[in-house]
Amino acid sequence: MKEQFVSLRDAVRAFAGAMNLIDSEISDHHEKVAYFAYQLATALDFPERERKLTFYGALLHDVGSVTMDQGLSLRELEQLPRALARAGASLLRRSEALARLSDIVEASQSPWRKLKLAPEALLRPRLMGQIIHLSDAVALLLKEKEHPLNQVEYIRSCVAQVGEREFHPQVLRAFEEVAGREVVWLDLQYRPEIFLDYVPDDRWLTLEEMKRLTEFMSSIIDFRSPFTAMHSAGVAATAAGLGRLAGMSEAEQAMLRIAGDLHDIGKLKTPRAILEKPGRLTESEFNIMKEHAYDSFRILSEVRGLEQIADWAALHHEKLNGSGYPFHLKGETLSLGSRILAVADVFSAVTEDRPYRKGMDREAAIQVLEGDADRGALSRSLVALLTRHYDELSALRAEASDAAGQRYRESLPAPEEA
Ligand SMILES: [Fe+2]
Ligand SMILES: [Fe+2]
Repeated sequence: MKEQFVSLRDAVRAFAGAMNLIDSEISDHHEKVAYFAYQLATALDFPERERKLTFYGALLHDVGSVTMDQGLSLRELEQLPRALARAGASLLRRSEALARLSDIVEASQSPWRKLKLAPEALLRPRLMGQIIHLSDAVALLLKEKEHPLNQVEYIRSCVAQVGEREFHPQVLRAFEEVAGREVVWLDLQYRPEIFLDYVPDDRWLTLEEMKRLTEFMSSIIDFRSPFTAMHSAGVAATAAGLGRLAGMSEAEQAMLRIAGDLHDIGKLKTPRAILEKPGRLTESEFNIMKEHAYDSFRILSEVRGLEQIADWAALHHEKLNGSGYPFHLKGETLSLGSRILAVADVFSAVTEDRPYRKGMDREAAIQVLEGDADRGALSRSLVALLTRHYDELSALRAEASDAAGQRYRESLPAPEEA
């Protein structure tokens, strides 16, 4: 099978969309900030490369919020600017593809009066950070339900009031220029179509590059709750292992790994109290929990090149007998990849340690999986394959989960920063 290519632009957009799930109160916040930041960078005559960096930094400027207290809304988190920026920068440093953004994000929440004291070497990232800082303020000030052009004077006066205490003089001049163009404000309200027009380029990622990017994305998802950290990595390793045993190609195994890493991306929206609830969920809690599979599907299926993986990942709660959710698909419509993900998900969920319970041992786990196969929920042949290779797959899962747990602990913000 030929190597898969995925649009970087779509992948980043999907990621931004996923970040928006964290707080449904502010829609498309990251896209808006990115759009405005791109306008400012253009007004400052930044070269293309730096415009892109500013743009992507703006998209991900709030990424640190996943490591912080989930009881807070995005608006409240914006009140803890330094901690948020540092948490984001330390996360980004761990990703090969995104490490370049870390200094920019780190500088993106600081007032100019503080930032100008930073070392000379950080001059450019600092300026890009300042662009994001101002764009963030604009996006938060702009009220969605009011006519945008009637808000420009007010936003201008807010920016002018804090002036150079908060913003770099060059960025303030660029703001004056950009704010004078009606189209910018109207664009901000006309979403999400504008987003793609302004995404600087559309590079296509190789399968290997996408794999690395998704490992990073999945570590972000897991940060939603330390209790679920390690889950995605375990599902990814199990799914790839099962795929190999089932005779799938190496490229397909890599795709299964990506699907495993992303299958629960929709959980970014699930309230922490539900994710971490030790006991059984009530019916209404379970209904809220169920939304994550749908959100994963929506987010992933919009990425060109990711269609197959999106299917495998987002159908992980479908069951062969039609009793799954949200689509209630049945047997023959569920591909081998989707069936593998479903088995890998149940297997990982029951064998993982959680703070309130130990993971099941071999006998108990096999009993659960066989029970599901008997009910016609999970594929009997895949459950049999897993049972035959139990020790090998169990070791793969545990190793991947432990490694993810290690990475998670390493990138937690230091206590005094949190
Ligand atoms: Fe799930
Ligand atoms: Fe899962």
